[in-house]
Amino acid sequence: MSTSRRDFLHMSAAGVAGMSLAASRLELRSTHPQSALRILVLGGTGFIGPHMVRYALQRGHTVTIFNRGRSNTHLFPQVERLIGDREDNLESLKGRNWDVVIDNSATVPWWVRDTAQLLKDSVDRYLFTSTRSTYSDFTQIGLNEDSPQHDPDPSAVDERRSQGYGPNKVLCEREALRAFGDRTLIVRPGLIVGPGDNTDRFSYWPIRVDKGGEMLCPGDPENPVMFIDVRDLAEWYIHMLENSTVGIYNGLGPEAPLSFAEMIYGCRAVTSAEVSFTWIDTDFLLDRGLRPYRDFPCWMPARGDRAGFQRFDLTRPLAAGLTYRPLAVTARDTLNWHKTRPVERQATLRAGLAPEREVEILAEWHASPR
Ligand SMILES: NC(=O)c1ccc[n+]([C@@H]2O[C@H](COP(=O)([O-])OP(=O)(O)OC[C@H]3O[C@@H](n4cnc5c(N)ncnc54)[C@H](OP(=O)(O)O)[C@@H]3O)[C@@H](O)[C@H]2O)c1
Repeated sequence: MSTSRRDFLHMSAAGVAGMSLAASRLELRSTHPQSALRILVLGGTGFIGPHMVRYALQRGHTVTIFNRGRSNTHLFPQVERLIGDREDNLESLKGRNWDVVIDNSATVPWWVRDTAQLLKDSVDRYLFTSTRSTYSDFTQIGLNEDSPQHDPDPSAVDERRSQGYGPNKVLCEREALRAFGDRTLIVRPGLIVGPGDNTDRFSYWPIRVDKGGEMLCPGDPENPVMFIDVRDLAEWYIHMLENSTVGIYNGLGPEAPLSFAEMIYGCRAVTSAEVSFTWIDTDFLLDRGLRPYRDFPCWMPARGDRAGFQRFDLTRPLAAGLTYRPLAVTARDTLNWHKTRPVERQATLRAGLAPEREVEILAEWHASPR
């Protein structure tokens, strides 16, 4: 898979045009915030929260975190920590006020209803972390923020009845909007990746490349892929809060379409491992019960009811100042972070193909008539 000269010139021209857009997006990031914000983070100690807390502190804002005090309790000793439980104990939030709330921890709508109703008169704005999974139809290419969403049963909120991840998040968004109206900021990220991601999904790829040898790569090398580096998301959140941005935004990247092959080669760029890539046909993999996303994280064949899963329209997030680190930086930092984990954790990834299964499938592929 080599990039032709014509493709390269096309990419370069697009890059130059993109540079002026990127420059104007950077203007949305003032060197110093005009005033320090008082930010309440619901969550703050899982995967995405710490990156937001860290960046907000760097920018001179004051941060309070609210959680049960169970996850990563060593983090942020300098930050005010309110203990409570979104299920049934919001006492520590009462009688307090902040400029903005970042709600990362809600996956059920009654959590958003309860905090948003409690805080609507004592907080200016509410940022809710939603998800791409709120969309109901991925057959379309170029989904934007107005594309159809799931249509869950609204009575599920009062009855505390889960409707599943995506539909729950639709109801969460509605609860945030019901309490905060045009003071609401909703972001719908796709796969969030980078240092600290304990799901090992994107991480599987740089880790696998770094292991070397013959590596199984799934499907069509041109298949599109989208994700977002957690640090790009975190920085964008804080800049949007500084700019008083409201509205609804998809949270995905990169800006220029990325193929699966480009993602893999981007990972190879950050290791010196001797590795070779064997691309195996989509149907060959599916026929053997291998599942997109689970056995091959990030990989979703762009066809049928998933044709648009990794081809979102990014007009709005780009206009709202979302910028992207180079893929090599994401891959390098993820790999370096992985190598700081305990040895036994490094040896047992939570996503991706088990090494012995990879060897089996490669052997079958080489033996198959083609
Ligand atoms: N990862 C992805 O690819 C992806 C993609 C799209 C959207 N998202 C969204 O991103 C968010 C996940 O972010 P994260 O887990 O990394 O967030 P986080 O803010 O870093 O961590 C989750 C926090 O929630 C707290 N928490 C959990 N249960 C709680 C409860 N009952 N009451 C109070 N606090 C509670 C945890 O602390 P304690 O345990 O101490 O309570 C922890 O601080 C979710 O909303 C998810 O839908 C993720």
